[in-house]
This record gives sequence, C-alpha cells and structure tokens, in this order.
Amino acid sequence: MKRIDEIDLKNKKVIIRVDYNVPLDKNLNIVDDNRIKESLKTINYCLDNNCSIILLSHLGKVKSEDDLKTKSLKPIAKRLSELLNREIIFTGEARGEIVDETVLNMQPKDIVLFENTRFLDLDGKLESGCDLELSKYWASLADIFINDAFGTIHRAHASNVGIAKYIKESCIGFLVQKELDNLNQITNNPELPFTVILGGAKVSDKIGVIKNLVKKADYILIGGAMAYTFLKAKGESVGKSLVDEDSLEFAREMLNTTNKIILPIDHLVSDNTLNSNYKVKEKIENDDIGLDIGPKTIESFKSYLTKSKTIFWNGPMGYYENETYQKGTKALCEIISRIEATSIVGGGDSASCVINLGYKDKFTHVSTGGGASLELLEGKELPGIEAIK
Ligand code: 3PG
Repeated sequence: MKRIDEIDLKNKKVIIRVDYNVPLDKNLNIVDDNRIKESLKTINYCLDNNCSIILLSHLGKVKSEDDLKTKSLKPIAKRLSELLNREIIFTGEARGEIVDETVLNMQPKDIVLFENTRFLDLDGKLESGCDLELSKYWASLADIFINDAFGTIHRAHASNVGIAKYIKESCIGFLVQKELDNLNQITNNPELPFTVILGGAKVSDKIGVIKNLVKKADYILIGGAMAYTFLKAKGESVGKSLVDEDSLEFAREMLNTTNKIILPIDHLVSDNTLNSNYKVKEKIENDDIGLDIGPKTIESFKSYLTKSKTIFWNGPMGYYENETYQKGTKALCEIISRIEATSIVGGGDSASCVINLGYKDKFTHVSTGGGASLELLEGKELPGIEAIK
C-alpha cells in the first residue's frame, strides 16, 4: 500500500477523501473541529507540492430532503479556510455542471470542497452503496486519489473505495498512516502489562473488540453504562440503570471464562431521574440509576493503570452529557496523564471527552475514528485500506 510520501505529487491534481463528519450544534456551529485540524498535514503537503486539491467528505447520514438543510459542508468550508488561512472554493454540489466547471478551471494550490457526498444517497444510495458510475465520475476528476479519511475507513463508499478502483494512482494520507501506526501497535505487539478501558452504553458495539483484546490484554476495566450489563450478568442489583439486555449472555460468558474483567465497586447514583443530585453507593438499590463510577472504583482502576505499559481506552466512564457525571472520565484522564505508558484513545465520544477536557496532548494518540478504530482492533479487514492495496 502506497503512502503519500512515496508518490510524486508535483503539480498534480489530487482528490483527497477526508472525514469532516464533525458534530454541529442546532445553529450549525462546529462543536469539535479536531477532524478538520487532523486533515491539515496532508493538505499542506499537497500545497507544498503545488497540487490543485479536491476534497470529498460526508457529514452525517442523509435520508430525507430535510437533511439537505442541516448537513451541508458549508460551515466546514469556512472553518477550513480559517485554519489554512486561504480561500476554499465550496461547490455546493458533489457532482454536476458546477463541479465540472470548477474542477476544469482549477489552478495549482486551489482547494475545492464538494458538497456532502452523501447528498447523493437521496438518488438511491449512490455514495454509501458505492455506485460504479459515481465512483468513475469522481475518479475522472483528478490524477491521484489520497485516502486520509480514517474515520470512514470501515465504510465501502464510492468516495473512498469505488474511486480507488478507477483512478490511476492511490495512496493513504498522513492521518491514516498515523492512525494505522498507533492502532496496529496495540493489536500486534503491545508492551505489557496492557490494560483496556471500555465504557459507553452498548456492550453489543464492543463485543468484537472484547473478544479480540481479551487474548492480548492483561486487564479489561469496564465502566460507563456497559458496566451495569456486566454487573447484572454477575447477579448484582443494578436498579434502573441502563442495561444492554441483548448482551447479558455474552457478558455472563466472558465473566465465566476470564478473570481479566474488572468491574466498578461503587457508583454515583441518582434517584430515578437523570438529575445532578447523586449519592455514592456500593450497592445500587431498586430505584437508583447508576450514572458514573465512584471514588473507590477510581482507586481500583488506578491500581491497574499505574502498572500498565500500554493503555487503550474507548468510551466514557459515566453519563458524560451531564457535567456532574464526568468525574470518573476526568479522573482517568488525570491518572493516565501522569503515567509513562503508550496511551491510545479510540475515537467517538471518548476522543471528544479527552479533547474537551483538555487532555489530548497527554495521550500518545487520540484516534479520529470511532467505529473505524474498533473494527481495526476487532481484526476486521477495512474496505478503505483494501481498496488502496
Ligand atoms: C464516523 O463518524 O464514525 C465516520 O465519519 C463514519 O460515519 P458513519 O457512521 O455515519 O458512517
């Protein structure tokens, strides 16, 4: 698989798949621009090589005409322009006459951002169904395809997989390279002891990762709502806490076959609502909802983390949307920031937590891919990578 620095880019027209699927608030302001910032290295490298640059990305899922109003890449064009301090030509379409004309008139160092590639899903899932004609069309617009959308690497879309089949030359960008270097280190050869921290709500999303990492990890610390599924499987009372009922059997099986799984021993619970009045309890009672790990659990998790040489973390430790229940997540950030270990955070909510709490620089690597990093750690083949190979 070719890397961007192994290809002659001088004066070429390049089409780069980036992942600008960033969270927007209801006024369409960008809530977290990390993915945009992480794309700059590849873009700047192409600018240094005097390339004309086309950027492709999706944003959210596009299922109805209403999505066209809220999922435009226009705010992203503005932010990218601020970050690069240069004009971004935003086409407002992802194919058609305006796109053709804009691309035809591009000069070296011009940067053109197409509209959300998934807008074409309204015509029959052309983008996410990897439509052949659409793939060929995008491939016809440039000399070289660069896939730098790590967050989308587990999807087989026209803009990341189809296009690579029809363009003359393809490679991966600096972000994808960085992600693979860091995440492969975990799957291939982690320095021991290796501790995995898993949180968030759904066990079912993490079954593949647990199955694969239990073979390599020394300890798997489970927090967040996931923990209540495991505690219930163990026969403990979890009150009205969130439980992933469909995963109870899997949790039971794991607890019976390995002693690597470490569960919370106390909790912040609220009484039947999600309000900020909480009590610390070791035993969750009938009307309680568990919303965060408690202080004894933080100490217990700390004892495993401080002896670790490799740490992988995916998923917040509590009901993170309410600041009161960020305590466990914050405490783990603080503990890990003081440990000399390779520390990697999977993308999605856990990456946003670490970034928003100001700990990004304290970790070895914070991934930009939620589903993508999990699928990589499950040992699955990634369509975006296979297409470049
Ligand atoms: C992500 O945020 O995980 C990627 O951008 C992929 O988005 P998707 O889950 O909507 O395909």
